[in-house]
Amino acid sequence: MAINTILVTGANGQLGWELGQLVSAYSQFEFVLLDRSSLDLSEPEKMEAIITSIQPFCVINTAAYTAVDKAESEHELALKINATAVVMLAKICKQHQIHFITYSTDYVFDGQATHPYPTNHKIDPVNFYGVSKAKGEEGAIAENEQSIIIRTSWVFSSHGNNFVKTMLRLMKERPQLNIVADQVGRPTYAKDLATATMLMVVALNTGKKIQGIYHYANEGIISWYDFALQIKQNAGLTCVLNPITTDQFPTPAKRPSYSVLDTQQIEKDLDTPIRNWKDALSECQNKLAS
Ligand SMILES: NC(=O)c1ccc[n+]([C@@H]2O[C@H](COP(=O)([O-])OP(=O)(O)OC[C@H]3O[C@@H](n4cnc5c(N)ncnc54)[C@H](OP(=O)(O)O)[C@@H]3O)[C@@H](O)[C@H]2O)c1
Repeated sequence: MAINTILVTGANGQLGWELGQLVSAYSQFEFVLLDRSSLDLSEPEKMEAIITSIQPFCVINTAAYTAVDKAESEHELALKINATAVVMLAKICKQHQIHFITYSTDYVFDGQATHPYPTNHKIDPVNFYGVSKAKGEEGAIAENEQSIIIRTSWVFSSHGNNFVKTMLRLMKERPQLNIVADQVGRPTYAKDLATATMLMVVALNTGKKIQGIYHYANEGIISWYDFALQIKQNAGLTCVLNPITTDQFPTPAKRPSYSVLDTQQIEKDLDTPIRNWKDALSECQNKLAS
């Protein structure tokens, strides 16, 4: 095994790309960044040969089927990528004594809570994407009890597709927008999640025992409407934003009304505070504007 090689899947996604931006900050590691064309999770039978040829000490799986609404009609594909392939990766990593980190979602919960969801809260997925991720979680831990699963929510980045970039585009195109105000959660800057992941990798590399489920999101509980208002303010745009209810914005996949992850465990185990979403958003928008 190459002591310092990290294999990242989904290298062209938000999180995979942000991990790629950390290569020089973590020069003690060699990063092998694989996008879909080099490692396709829909071909799990090919994964073992690819991983063993690289011999990483850690696999970070950021690749996922993330089309939440399409998942309602593409059950098979969502399960193949978010469950079957994840379980296979967990198994391969166990067989070859490789650390395995993968990601899951706030949508594994029912969205009915009134307090932040702790990591051990009962899962009851709110939509089929959540079902597929929950099956990936459960299967990975059953195959490989040392799997690390980081649940996250409302991910944004200067790279890829996300709410921040969609809002900026629409606010420039339209005089007014309707934004859902009765769903609350915690936005997550993919750069911050990538950095937290690397803190975990450093801890693993020094022999610290880390395993099981973690939650990561930026500090602060807001609605999509609050999020959009801040994006508008940061960008100095004039588009009028109207708060609406979930009923006024039907989507194929149900969304949770309360989607707040409790992140205390990761803050404690990595001994690192998580910054507020507003600071993270400003940094992301400054990057987009530069
Ligand atoms: N985005 C969110 O708001 C959010 C919320 C909660 C949890 N998460 C989880 O956080 C993790 C990172 O998400 P993200 O925001 O970085 O997602 P993302 O930007 O949608 O990126 C996902 C990546 O996975 C790749 N991918 C899709 N199917 C693949 C396949 N069959 N084989 C290999 N790669 C494949 C995509 O490749 P292409 O570029 O070729 O399409 C894309 O680059 C995922 O596990 C996701 O489920 C995300």
